[in-house]
Amino acid sequence: MKLTSYQQNLLSDTHRLAAFYEAINQKSKGVVYDLGTGSGVFSFWAAPLARFVYAVEKNPHTAKLAQKNLSTCDNVSILVNNAKNINFSENADLIICEMMDTALIDEEQVPVLNSVRKYLKKDGDIIPCGVFNGVEAIHLESKHTIYQEGQIPQPELMSKLLIYDKIDFKKYIKEETEHQITIPINSNGTVSGIKITTFTLLTSNLICGPTPMLNPPLLIPTNNLNMEKGESINIDLKYSMGGGLDTIRASIETIP
Ligand SMILES: C[S@@+](CC[C@H](N)C(=O)[O-])C[C@H]1O[C@@H](n2cnc3c(N)ncnc32)[C@H](O)[C@@H]1O
Repeated sequence: MKLTSYQQNLLSDTHRLAAFYEAINQKSKGVVYDLGTGSGVFSFWAAPLARFVYAVEKNPHTAKLAQKNLSTCDNVSILVNNAKNINFSENADLIICEMMDTALIDEEQVPVLNSVRKYLKKDGDIIPCGVFNGVEAIHLESKHTIYQEGQIPQPELMSKLLIYDKIDFKKYIKEETEHQITIPINSNGTVSGIKITTFTLLTSNLICGPTPMLNPPLLIPTNNLNMEKGESINIDLKYSMGGGLDTIRASIETIP
């Protein structure tokens, strides 16, 4: 396959690929949309099992790579456009959409699915079919929101992981979201941030945790609170799904 370095990194993430491969093999049939096709890898897997695949890519340079990589598949059409702007001529049995980012904040998964979901047949499927988001209280040195990837030092965890949101991609998703989360602190020290971990449900029986290129944990600074083991904090967390990391607002307070 011909690739940019970003697409190459996506294809080097074998854990991510294995999860999608299994789901695509389970669910592909009839008409498939592959939204954000990138290198075209998911369309390449779906095509032998589907009647027709619409591979959608908004970046014209990337779409050219997909065109080359999918040139042997005669039941794939590449649409170079923003998926939100397409009027599809036939409904889908399966929508594959990998515009994922941790908590769905920094990529267009949610706005795209909110636009395209109307074309999914009643008994159709979406891969992934949803996510669970979890939060932990942490001691964080960084003053900026960062992904926990590569060689950055691990933050000190100061609570257990608590799942605060479960999102079903088949239902309308409100893009602006706010959560009030109460979480017990399990060590003495300063809480100065939160860690968000996203678990991706590929199908109802296949779940994938964070991988280097699929939802790496997100570390978000907050105000500082000196805490003792056994006390609890309240987290106020707001963001816009698809709006980018700048939309995140996170603050913490002690519970009297
Ligand atoms: C995370 S990559 C996934 C690529 C490929 N599906 C894979 O998993 O290896 C997301 C791709 O979606 C494309 N994309 C992002 N937003 C889009 C949109 N609104 N409409 C169409 N393509 C989009 C990006 O250009 C990028 O190629």
